[in-house]
Amino acid sequence: MKIAIGSDHAGFPLKEKIKDLLTQKGLEVIDKGCYNTDSVHYPEFGAAVAKAVADCQVSRGILVCGTGIGMSIVANRFHGVRATLCHNEFTATAAREHNDSNLLCLGARVLDEALALKLVEIWLATEYAGGRHQTRLDLIEELSK
Ligand code: RB5
Repeated sequence: MKIAIGSDHAGFPLKEKIKDLLTQKGLEVIDKGCYNTDSVHYPEFGAAVAKAVADCQVSRGILVCGTGIGMSIVANRFHGVRATLCHNEFTATAAREHNDSNLLCLGARVLDEALALKLVEIWLATEYAGGRHQTRLDLIEELSK
């Protein structure tokens, strides 16, 4: 699996930890920045990762900012992106099972590092359930035309 990853300054330290985890798992990681803790604007990095997912350059994306909120707003503007802001094990599981999430958003100022890494593991390992959930995803496409 090829994964694009990105953050703003608030998410940078956690993004680096997530990158290490993904690399250890043998996944191919494309880091869209940022590359240090200097203050930047999260939409630039959110858009870069979301575009990579929307254009099918990667199968999944992960974005980290302070709250995860800004990144989720940006990422869901891109067609085909299902960006999900997750805070705990339940939301990370449901994001995959129910929403077929292809982009995980995390808040570095909301989660401690160990929980954030656990959410990444859950989100990577959980399969989409399909069935009635596909009807709902199809409706999103149809109603947003
Ligand atoms: C940066 O201070 C902060 O606004 C950003 O990381 C994020 O939380 C935006 O949603």
